[in-house]
Amino acid sequence: MSLIEDLKSLKETAVKRINATEADIEALRVGLLGKKGELTLLLKGMKDVAPEDRKTVGEIGNDVRQKITTLLSEKKAAIEEQRLNEQLASETVDVTMPGSNHHVGQPHVLQQIIDEIEQHFLGLGFEVIDDIVDSPEVETDEYNFERENLPKDHPARDMQDTFYITPEILLRTQTSPVQSRSLEKHDFSKGPLKMIAPGKVYRRDTDDATHSHQFHQVEGMVVGENITMADLKGTLLSIMQELFGEKHQIRMRPSYFPFTEPSVEVDVSWNEVTPDMKPEDIQWIEVLGAGMTHPNVLRMDGIDPEKYSAFAFGLGPDRFAMLKYGVDDIRQFYLNDVRFLSQFNRKGN
Ligand code: DAH
Repeated sequence: MSLIEDLKSLKETAVKRINATEADIEALRVGLLGKKGELTLLLKGMKDVAPEDRKTVGEIGNDVRQKITTLLSEKKAAIEEQRLNEQLASETVDVTMPGSNHHVGQPHVLQQIIDEIEQHFLGLGFEVIDDIVDSPEVETDEYNFERENLPKDHPARDMQDTFYITPEILLRTQTSPVQSRSLEKHDFSKGPLKMIAPGKVYRRDTDDATHSHQFHQVEGMVVGENITMADLKGTLLSIMQELFGEKHQIRMRPSYFPFTEPSVEVDVSWNEVTPDMKPEDIQWIEVLGAGMTHPNVLRMDGIDPEKYSAFAFGLGPDRFAMLKYGVDDIRQFYLNDVRFLSQFNRKGN
């Protein structure tokens, strides 16, 4: 019977073709099993098969279809696996290859110091005031000087040579005006005012190793009932030990600022202070100015100095960074030389 023969030979050639194919499994499937495929066409001859033979021929036909279908799907799986293996092989990462270095930036060294100071004071429950509205760099003469107890004819104005924009508007020479700006807004029914104000300040100085026409300050102020010099000393000791290490001590020397009375200059000990040490063996370095806020300042800001007392301080992150890292020229901080700046990485890597 020739249809049976034809079916068997189709099975043989189909097996060979499927085994031989490398890629187009789908075309092969359509060519063999599709509507106009070879098997389909052969089976159309069924109608001419004698009825008693149809069962046998039908079974053979089914067997051929079964065989081809199975082979096709096995082949398809094999091809896909091979493709996947090839892809994996081509995408393998060679872990022994040298990596390419991505340079990760970091905050400027002064910003790092300011961040440390902020974190410390936030921990002590202080507010950080650094936005342009509450801590403007373009200030009025009134806030920068008069409210800080430096009236127009005050000789201490000469301590700070000023960039004036108009006779009444200037680039702030200190962050102290933020004291008044904060006091004005503070609601004492909610408790004492405890704030720091980090920011840029400007002086008409000629730049040299220790002077820059623009530098940084962090102002601090606490206003409440029964605030004393001991509170000031404790606060300053805590920030100094945070920045320079536990072994450092501070001392206060009398000084003069128009907005504080008494005023002090604060020194930090550079070497470790031990109880058996002679005073002359301690190295002191001056780090900041501070004091008990002058009653005039409180009064000008609408605070009753009989009821409230206050301390304030002004510290210089630039000077801290110089001391901490042994930098001998303040201008280095403002040149933005990455070789210099990349040395200061607070994560220590
Ligand atoms: N404003 C002062 C300056 O620029 C620094 C300063 C000293 C601030 C004493 C204060 C203070 O709040 O109490 O030189």
